[in-house]
Amino acid sequence: MAEDICLFTKGTLIIKPPKKSPASLRMLVLVFAMVCGVYICSVCLKQTNLRNSTKYLNVEVNQIYCQDKNIDKSQTPFLHFPKPTTFTRGECACNPVRLFAILSMQRSGSGWFETLLNSHTNVSSNGEIFSSKERRSNVSSIFSTLDRVYNLDWFNSASKNECSAAVGFKWMLNQGLMVHHKEIVEYFNDRGVSVIFLFRRNLLRRMVSVLANSYDRFAKLLNGTHKSHVHSHEEANTLSRYKPLINSTSLVMDLKMMEKMALDALENFSSTRHIILYYEDLIKNRTKLVDVQKFIGVPKMELTSRQVKIHKGSLSEHIMNWEDVNKTLRGTIYESFLQTDYSH
Ligand SMILES: *[C@@H]1O[C@H](CO)[C@@H](O)[C@H](O)[C@H]1NC(C)=O
Ligand SMILES: *[C@@H]1O[C@H](CO)[C@@H](O)[C@H](O)[C@H]1NC(C)=O
Ligand SMILES: *[C@@H]1O[C@H](CO)[C@@H](O)[C@H](O)[C@H]1NC(C)=O
Ligand SMILES: *[C@@H]1O[C@H](CO)[C@@H](O)[C@H](O)[C@H]1NC(C)=O
Ligand SMILES: *[C@@H]1O[C@H](CO)[C@@H](O)[C@H](O)[C@H]1NC(C)=O
Ligand SMILES: *[C@@H]1O[C@H](CO)[C@@H](O)[C@H](O)[C@H]1NC(C)=O
Ligand SMILES: *[C@@H]1O[C@H](CO)[C@@H](O)[C@H](O)[C@H]1NC(C)=O
Repeated sequence: MAEDICLFTKGTLIIKPPKKSPASLRMLVLVFAMVCGVYICSVCLKQTNLRNSTKYLNVEVNQIYCQDKNIDKSQTPFLHFPKPTTFTRGECACNPVRLFAILSMQRSGSGWFETLLNSHTNVSSNGEIFSSKERRSNVSSIFSTLDRVYNLDWFNSASKNECSAAVGFKWMLNQGLMVHHKEIVEYFNDRGVSVIFLFRRNLLRRMVSVLANSYDRFAKLLNGTHKSHVHSHEEANTLSRYKPLINSTSLVMDLKMMEKMALDALENFSSTRHIILYYEDLIKNRTKLVDVQKFIGVPKMELTSRQVKIHKGSLSEHIMNWEDVNKTLRGTIYESFLQTDYSH
């Protein structure tokens, strides 16, 4: 075979009539040299690529092996086949896994939202992992934490690792997220992490919740333990008995700052694959949860949570200086926050 090729090349060289046109021969040699050059270059490049990516070789082999199944090719960047170091995925080794992060602010319903997600057999949302200052102290610490979570090597009570089809966690905007937004966006886009923004429309209600929660941190109204989320109406009633006093002097400024923080996050993370959710919409319209499941690519299921809302009904019952607050917000762009926006 090798000989044949040699003969063939020799033959073509001999066949060429050398005298006919020296210019075209020169042209031929030039083209040949160029083709050779390009070929050698491409081989070199391939080799350096190979050297750089040996670290990921296992992942890629696994990915190629698993992708024989009929998978929508446009989804490829978002599908992962992690090989956890702490366990084997067993029967689900070739089920693709999608990565997500819930970006939110404290007291915006993200705890409740996460219990809903975790009621799904194939979703594993790992909580507020960056509440630990050490994990967010620098970008490399953030990345190694993310790597562990997305490789399914993070364990908490919510983990359902073997057959997880979507893995993520919740991340508050003030937990290093905005400080390192450039690097984090790059990581999200490189790894194909989908972003779920979860905000609250009524920022006055959020403020009441923040103040009441921080009061309970030391008051510990429920039999001497501090609780941020409750599972019974009795507990909810106990917690909502405390009515915070709102500083009406700084109120409009404070609301503006909260609003700006959310808008900044939307702007800074706009290049990621994302969906924007509002707590109020989720409460009013449970079919929004179908959109969420579609977005993170898991089979549709009925999602449930045992959590009970703490501050129900009209806000006037939950604020000590209601008259004052009512007067302050009337005529401002935040006037609508005064109204009751859901009835239970
Ligand atoms: C990043 O933070 C971790 C944990 O606080 C620390 O151990 C590590 O030395 C830091 N790395 C750099 C490059 O600063
Ligand atoms: C969801 O989990 C079940 C087992 O709990 C598994 O049989 C199924 O394949 C998983 N679905 C996906 C899409 O990974
Ligand atoms: C406090 O504890 C008592 C007895 O353990 C229990 O009956 C009661 O329901 C608890 N109250 C709250 C608000 O959790
Ligand atoms: C209310 O806010 C104003 C303006 O920020 C501040 O000067 C004042 O001390 C605050 N009052 C209380 C009771 O915190
Ligand atoms: C991030 O948001 C801030 C505030 O809106 C803005 O000044 C900055 O340009 C944004 N950066 C990117 C990369 O979007
Ligand atoms: C509920 O949400 C679904 C999905 O987002 C939407 O199509 C529908 O119009 C909403 N229904 C109401 C009453 O808002
Ligand atoms: C706010 O104050 C006005 C005027 O006193 C009153 O008519 C209105 O009902 C109050 N709004 C609420 C939500 O209590």
